[in-house]
Amino acid sequence: MMRGALLSGLLALLAFVTVSVAFTPGDPVRGEKVFRKCKACHSVEAGRTKPAGPNLLGVFGRQAGTADYRFSTSMVEAGEAGLVWTPESVDAYITDPKAFLKETLDASRVRNKMVFKLKDEEDRADVIAYLMSLQEGDP
Ligand code: HEC
Repeated sequence: MMRGALLSGLLALLAFVTVSVAFTPGDPVRGEKVFRKCKACHSVEAGRTKPAGPNLLGVFGRQAGTADYRFSTSMVEAGEAGLVWTPESVDAYITDPKAFLKETLDASRVRNKMVFKLKDEEDRADVIAYLMSLQEGDP
């Protein structure tokens, strides 16, 4: 019984450590350069919308699919199911948006509108750090 308790304690600790090291923000200055790749579709200027994608200012803490943009039905569904953007979920999303939506909605087919993948882990950490730095100034 002691061993069982110890083992479950260890497993819980391991799960905690795994979750907390899952994402570490990178360099926001470098991230601003990486963001050039996102700029074709996304703005980070307050109140500015682009036809190709939602504004990303204040994205962290925002329910998915609720910005002023015509989102895919799958993204709206994911938001309604409880998806709120965090550095971790944005990291997973921009790695492979379609795969992320499939996993989130537990569906084999989804309507995904973001046809862009950022495969480089460091680039993702940096661009997320950049987006976080913009949000710090929010009221
Ligand atoms: C080719 C255009 C395009 C590029 C490039 C692009 N995106 Fe997107 N992005 C979209 C579209 C379109 C959506 C809406 C997806 C949907 O409705 O399914 C989206 C959605 C998002 C969302 C969810 C926003 C919300 O409010 O729910 C995040 C976060 C995001 N993109 C981050 C990024 C980042 C970071 C980059 C650059 C590394 C990037 N995107 C590059 C088109 C793009």
